[in-house]
Amino acid sequence: MRIPDPFTLIIFGGTGDLSHRKLFPALYKLFLQKRLAPSFEILALGRKALSNEDFREQIRTSLQKDVDFESEQEILDSFMTHVHFQNLDVGQPADFLRLQQSIQSFHEEVQQNILFYLATAPDFFAPVARELAALNLNQEISRTTWRRIILEKPFGTDLESANLLNKELLKYFEEHQIYRIDHYLGKESVQNILAFRFANGLFLPLWNRRHIHRVEVTAAESLGVEDRGGYYDQSGAMRDMIQNHLLQLLAVIAMESPNHFDPDSIRDEKAKVLKALRPIHGSDIHDQVIRGQYIGSKIRGEVVPGYRDEANVDPQSSRETFVAIKAFIDNERWQGVPFYIRTGKRLPTRVSEVVIHFNGPGHQLFNEFTTEQRGENQLVLRIQPDEGVLLKFGLKVPGSGFKIAPVGMDFHYSDLNEDALPEAYERLILDALIGDNTLYARADAVQAAWKFVDPILDYWRQHPNTKLYGYPAGTWGPPETLTLFEGSEEDWRYPCKNLSNDDSYCEL
Ligand SMILES: NC(=O)c1ccc[n+]([C@@H]2O[C@H](COP(=O)([O-])OP(=O)(O)OC[C@H]3O[C@@H](n4cnc5c(N)ncnc54)[C@H](OP(=O)(O)O)[C@@H]3O)[C@@H](O)[C@H]2O)c1
Repeated sequence: MRIPDPFTLIIFGGTGDLSHRKLFPALYKLFLQKRLAPSFEILALGRKALSNEDFREQIRTSLQKDVDFESEQEILDSFMTHVHFQNLDVGQPADFLRLQQSIQSFHEEVQQNILFYLATAPDFFAPVARELAALNLNQEISRTTWRRIILEKPFGTDLESANLLNKELLKYFEEHQIYRIDHYLGKESVQNILAFRFANGLFLPLWNRRHIHRVEVTAAESLGVEDRGGYYDQSGAMRDMIQNHLLQLLAVIAMESPNHFDPDSIRDEKAKVLKALRPIHGSDIHDQVIRGQYIGSKIRGEVVPGYRDEANVDPQSSRETFVAIKAFIDNERWQGVPFYIRTGKRLPTRVSEVVIHFNGPGHQLFNEFTTEQRGENQLVLRIQPDEGVLLKFGLKVPGSGFKIAPVGMDFHYSDLNEDALPEAYERLILDALIGDNTLYARADAVQAAWKFVDPILDYWRQHPNTKLYGYPAGTWGPPETLTLFEGSEEDWRYPCKNLSNDDSYCEL
């Protein structure tokens, strides 16, 4: 079991949604499992004027669903003694001086190692790094002590801004100190793809263009933009999901076997995949990228508003809430294999999965074994929910004749262990405290991902009339995505049916 050194964790944006919903629950669970150092302090920052007690009360409320108050009351009380609050405005250098004083008031042992978690809007990343450096808070005091900084997504809004941000940060922190979070990589099931691929001889020889027909990567969300309309209307599905989570996931699926299981070797191989993505330019964008936006519909009888009717969204907005891309990786392993990537809001269910479609047999021995059934030659790696692996293949239906029917071997990670799988943030925070950045995105990988999506975003900006298909909330996005496929019988895997009462669609 890896236990971090004594540490101080400073959370910028400590009063925000992410801190309350993800960071503190993750920290509490790590504490409960005795995975944190025996001595540590957590200092949350925000502009609100709160006392330590006010803030602890708020955190207690946020932790309600994570705590068994009957058996864990004492543990929770003990956790709270490590939690502190200080008000700080990033625009006020004097507030950073007070921050330094607060750190100095902690026990000497925990001052040596400091993790800064920037759970704020990205505009603050560079200013915070600059202020910390001005007070030498970025400096590692000795070879055995450390200073690290975690940056939340989004890392830039395009290639230029991401490069600029990197350049700024590298003035104050070295690359080994910078942890760019992509919580998808912290998911147990994403890490299991590495184990599945490289710990078993079974699929290794099949993992290439000779045996794989196509790959699907889907991240579907059933929710709309909720109360994040303002952010989403500036961002959209391409920046919010594809540039980071889905391309990182694709890199894990497609990477070569690393020489060693260490951060650099793994991140080298992932970056190579992203650098080998074939850029999609100009008119190819019409053939290889479909964008959509959800429109109002009824789901299980309930009226669901369309995207343009959501709070803080421009009523004329052409922001995409759905994207499907046909991508290619130009290397020896994957030449010619299409990777179909799809994500959207207000789809019928919340599911993330990768589907590997293997080639069918060359010679069709069984008449009934139609091309469609060959499609059952699939390996489904489910990322969320119900993490697991499903292998689908054709078998003979009992009785006379030789009718082939699809069957499946279904493994659920929940069968391995009675405990719930750890949340991505638990794993990622612990990794950062230990100094393992394997599951964090490296600068060159982030840059390569922006290089892939930037030309598409530019094209949409320069050609605002590019089709934006409407799809009723509760459906699997615009049916036009089928035009991405090469064979007439190819289709996406649909983990569940459309929910909308109205299956029609319209072009916006
Ligand atoms: N929420 C999520 O589920 C989620 C998921 C993935 C990534 N993220 C990313 O995480 C970051 C935070 O998101 P969030 O949803 O937690 O945002 P949020 O709820 O709006 O919180 C923003 C935080 O920033 C603080 N803040 C704002 N202006 C400040 C200033 N001038 N000086 C100091 N602190 C300031 C706010 O504190 P005060 O109001 O007290 O000043 C608050 O704690 C964003 O980059 C977001 O993209 C969020």
